[in-house]
Amino acid sequence: MVMLTLSSSLLSTCDAYNYKTYFYLQKVDHFSFANQDSFIQRYLISDEHWDRRGGPIFFYAGNEGDITLFAENTGFVWDIAPEFNALVVFAEHRYYGVSLPYGNKSFSEPKYSGYLTSEQALADYVDILTYLKSAIRGAQKSPVITFGGSYGGMLAAWFRIKYPHVVQGAIAASAPILQFTDLTPCDKFGQLVTADFASASSECAEVIRKSWAAINNVTSSVEGKAWLSNAWKLCKPMRTEEDVKTLKDYLTNVWTNLAMADYPYPANFLAPLPANPVKVVCSQLTASGHPPKMLLEELFFGLTVYFNFTGQAKCLNPDQQADVRLDDKGWDFQACTEMVMPFCYDGKQDLFEPAPWDFQQYAKECNKKFGVQPRPYMAQYMYGGKLINAASNIVFSNGLLDPWSTGGVMWNVSSSVVSIIIPEGAHHLDLRGADPADPPSVLKARRLEKTFITSWIRSYWEEQQQQQE
Ligand SMILES: *[C@@H]1O[C@H](CO)[C@@H](O)[C@H](O)[C@H]1NC(C)=O
Ligand SMILES: *[C@@H]1O[C@H](CO)[C@@H](O)[C@H](O)[C@H]1NC(C)=O
Ligand SMILES: *[C@@H]1O[C@H](CO)[C@@H](O)[C@H](O)[C@H]1NC(C)=O
Ligand SMILES: *[C@@H]1O[C@H](CO)[C@@H](O)[C@H](O)[C@H]1NC(C)=O
Repeated sequence: MVMLTLSSSLLSTCDAYNYKTYFYLQKVDHFSFANQDSFIQRYLISDEHWDRRGGPIFFYAGNEGDITLFAENTGFVWDIAPEFNALVVFAEHRYYGVSLPYGNKSFSEPKYSGYLTSEQALADYVDILTYLKSAIRGAQKSPVITFGGSYGGMLAAWFRIKYPHVVQGAIAASAPILQFTDLTPCDKFGQLVTADFASASSECAEVIRKSWAAINNVTSSVEGKAWLSNAWKLCKPMRTEEDVKTLKDYLTNVWTNLAMADYPYPANFLAPLPANPVKVVCSQLTASGHPPKMLLEELFFGLTVYFNFTGQAKCLNPDQQADVRLDDKGWDFQACTEMVMPFCYDGKQDLFEPAPWDFQQYAKECNKKFGVQPRPYMAQYMYGGKLINAASNIVFSNGLLDPWSTGGVMWNVSSSVVSIIIPEGAHHLDLRGADPADPPSVLKARRLEKTFITSWIRSYWEEQQQQQE
């Protein structure tokens, strides 16, 4: 293996995917920070399969969490790196994981948190790539293909749109770039979650739909709150209406996360889960006709699949919705500034507690939480919304089990901005590593993605050649 010679500092190595962890001193000249002019940004790199005579750079555009979580759940990039002789880089998004510009003060005041934007994140990625190309012998001219899933997929697509001279193509998996005001109706997302549960069994969806009223019924009294706290083995007994709301928010997230992570094999993405977790949960939720307490006891068996698949859970903690490496604080802030994604539920066409989308209320809460004013049209102004036919070399892939596909690009925009649909796919299934249980549709999607990557790299070298002549 060739050792890289980098001036940034080596932190540690990882055996599973054979990457090394580095810190990059981000000298931010694309904006100025209050009281400081740089911060430390983490990236992971592997040159195990890299051909330094022009092998491409596969660059994962880190999203809202610790970058190691994404490196471990993006096996596709690792799987195909050998055949492309690619250098693999996973860059951590500013304000996530350990890349906190102001340490633990980063979210304490708008003057510190205000530098958390998708534009700045993309500019960071340009800096890191520019640095790597100058520091690594043989990388100067390497074409760059960017990858990302979910918000990372949005970043990958936008990276190609904004910096076509830096990245030659983008694989944007489950990227809901249209999950914004006036682009996608707010009720579509919840309806797709519901369809996933209803396709396991209509009774299952009905149990969940009725559980909200059952919770209201039972928790309306002090004894009832104590009863449910005990029946559901809550870590902290419920006492207030705020606690009840926290529990309902938790449940909303659990049903959503199960739909997102409905993979055909056991996986540990949002939580450790069995194969086909929606089916497994639904096998527990079979009788919607029960009175409130019995219904909630039944529901708990379903919940157990989510929070206690490992058998290690001592209690149920509604404050912990998913893998701790997905950082809520940063995303909450982004959702309160540029990433305002409207969701609404009616409890009829979906299984959630009815909740309209109320932007005024949402803005008020954002202001209270972070001292900021949401800008619901910002992403459209910045990146174009649906009007992306001037872009090129982007694959948008979406699985039809994935609720986020409702905000995805589901049509072929042009011959080089294409949409790949994976009927049996949950959230960015195609980006995960190959598995014997993969459905044929995801194998096909990955084959197509490789074909596009090959053609992007080929046209890049052709252009290079023409420029020399
Ligand atoms: C931030 O970290 C410092 C040093 O570790 C510590 O003294 C301080 O209490 C922390 N502040 C907060 C808000 O967590
Ligand atoms: C809760 O449900 C039970 C059984 O359906 C009903 O008898 C009771 O009146 C309800 N209580 C409240 C507070 O809604
Ligand atoms: C988690 O599962 C284990 C094994 O089945 C069980 O002993 C434990 O009580 C469960 N924890 C909770 C909080 O239900
Ligand atoms: C888009 O075009 C590709 C071929 O380039 C095709 O495989 C795919 O099915 C098309 N997608 C849609 C949504 O029609």
